[in-house]
Amino acid sequence: MKKVDQEEVARRRGIYFQSFGIYGGISGLFDYGPLGSRIKDRIVRIWKEMMLSEGNIAEFDGTAVTHQEVLKASGHYDRFFDYSVECTECGNRYRADDLIQKRGIEAIVDREWLQNKILELNMKCEKCGGKLGDVKIQKLMFQVEQGEGQEPLFLRPETAQGMFVNFKEYYRFFREKLPFAIITVGRGYRNEISPRRALYRLREFNMMECESFFDPQNEMWIHDPEENLKVTFLTNEGKEIHATPRDVYENGVVKSQPMAYFMGLAIRFYSRIGIDLNRFRFRQHKKEELSHYSSETWDAEALTDLGWIEITGIAHRGIFDLTNHIKASGKDLYAQRVVQRKEMLNKVREVDYDKIKADFPELSPKIIAAIKDGKSKLEAGGRTLDLADYIIEREEKVTVDRENFVPIVIEPAFGLDRIIYAILDHNLGLRDESGYVFLKIPYEISPYDAAVLPLMARDGLDQKANEIYEELLRQKFTVIYDDSGSIGKRYSRYDEVGIVYCITVDYETLKDDTVTIRHRDTREQLRIKVNEIPKYLGLNPWNGKKN
Ligand code: GLY
Repeated sequence: MKKVDQEEVARRRGIYFQSFGIYGGISGLFDYGPLGSRIKDRIVRIWKEMMLSEGNIAEFDGTAVTHQEVLKASGHYDRFFDYSVECTECGNRYRADDLIQKRGIEAIVDREWLQNKILELNMKCEKCGGKLGDVKIQKLMFQVEQGEGQEPLFLRPETAQGMFVNFKEYYRFFREKLPFAIITVGRGYRNEISPRRALYRLREFNMMECESFFDPQNEMWIHDPEENLKVTFLTNEGKEIHATPRDVYENGVVKSQPMAYFMGLAIRFYSRIGIDLNRFRFRQHKKEELSHYSSETWDAEALTDLGWIEITGIAHRGIFDLTNHIKASGKDLYAQRVVQRKEMLNKVREVDYDKIKADFPELSPKIIAAIKDGKSKLEAGGRTLDLADYIIEREEKVTVDRENFVPIVIEPAFGLDRIIYAILDHNLGLRDESGYVFLKIPYEISPYDAAVLPLMARDGLDQKANEIYEELLRQKFTVIYDDSGSIGKRYSRYDEVGIVYCITVDYETLKDDTVTIRHRDTREQLRIKVNEIPKYLGLNPWNGKKN
C-alpha cells in the first residue's frame, strides 16, 4: 500500500489534530476528534477486556495531580529530567541526546559527555545554523501550584505511582494472595523539550499501564507464556532472534516468566488491533538506557515512517517503588508469606507505671501521655526527664508462621497515542492506482460498525435508510447516516476512516426490503434482507457479542 501523510488525513477527517489550533496550537498537545475518539475508545475496551479477563487483575482510577512526597520517593522529583541545549541566536531548543543520535552516534545520557560531543562535532542549530549554548538539565514534570505557602503538586509523569501507593487496598481486595495486577487507563504528563511529530512524543499522553506484583521467591504469572506467536527479539547485545515468548523464556533470553507472559499478551493485543507483526519487534534496553527504577526492560517497537518507535515498555521494577514508599511514608506496604512455624524473641517495650508513680505521684498522667506520644524528654518538677528511664524493655517468646516481604513488580506500560500512530502508519495508504485513501484497520477498532447510505436523498430512500439506521442504533450498533454527495464519494469517505461496511438503500429496497452491503477491503457488494444486516456486521464491540 502506498503511504500517505497520516497527519493530513487525521486532521482532515477528525481523527486527531493539534490542540487549540485556532490559537496557533501548542507543540506536544493533540486532541482526538469524532472518529479518533471512537478508535481510541475501542482500543481501550479491547485492552481492558484482555487484561481483566485474566481474573487476577483489577482496575484503578486515580488522580493525575500528585502529592510531591510520592514523586520524591519514586525518584521522579530528582531524577526525571532530560538534557536540553538552546540555540544562542534563535532560541530553538533541542534534546541534546536526540541531536547527537540523529548523526548516527549512540548518545550517552550524561551532561558532560553531551556537551563535549556537541563541541567536538561543532554542532549548530538545525533551524538557523546558530551557535548552540550550554547543555542544561530540564526537569520533565509539570508543577501545579496550591495556595500560598503550600507545597506545589505535580502532574503525574506515569500512572504507575497511584497503583504502588495503593498496593495495600488491592492486596486486601485479592485476599492477600499474590500474584495479582492493577491496571490504569489514564493520562500522563511530561514537559518534553522537543515534542516530536503528531502523536509520537506528547506532553500530555494516554497510557494503559499494568503493575503486577509477585513474591520474589515465586516470580510466576498464573498462565504460561504464549507458544504460538513468533516475533523478532533484539537483545541488548545486538542479537536478533525470531521466536515465541515461551522460547525466549525457556532459552533464558528473557529471564522473568511474567515478562515473557506479558510479551505474549502484547503480541495478541497488537495483532488484534492491526499492528503489522512484520514491522514489530521487542528490543531489550541497554544498561545506560534503563530508567532509574528498572533492572531490565524490553520495549515493544513498531517500524513506522519515524523509524522504530516504542509503543510499549515492559519493565522489571523489582522492589524499587514499594521499598521507597515504605521508607518515605513509614507505612506498611508489605505482603506476607507463610513460613514454617518458628519461635522468635520479640522485643517488648512497656511503661514503668510503678516507677513513675513513685518518682512523680502528681505528674504521672503527664509523663505517661508524653511517653505514649513518642516523646523522649519532658520538663517536669523543674528538671528535664529522660523518658527512657521509665520504659522497661524485655524480650518475649512468640510463635510465628508468617513473614513480611516487599513484592517485586513487573510493569507492561502501553503508550496509547503511539499505538494509534503505529496503527495508522501500518494501515493507511493509497488503495491502488485509483489514488483513493484507504484505512485497513480491523473491524473491532473501526470507528463505526457501518455507514447507512441512501442511494439518493429523495423518493423515500432517505426515509427508509433512516428507519434502518434507527433500528441499528436501537440494537446497539454504532452506525452513521450519510446522504450527502454521490454514492461513490461516500464510499471513499468511509474507506478513508476505516469503516468496514456500507449499507446502501436503493430503489429495490423499497420493493423487496433488501439492501446492499459493501465491504471496505474487497469493495464487493452483497444483496441481503434488511433484517439480516446485524448478522453481517461481524463482532459488535459494544456488547461483545458475535452477530
Ligand atoms: N511507567 C512507565 C513509564 O513511565 O514509562
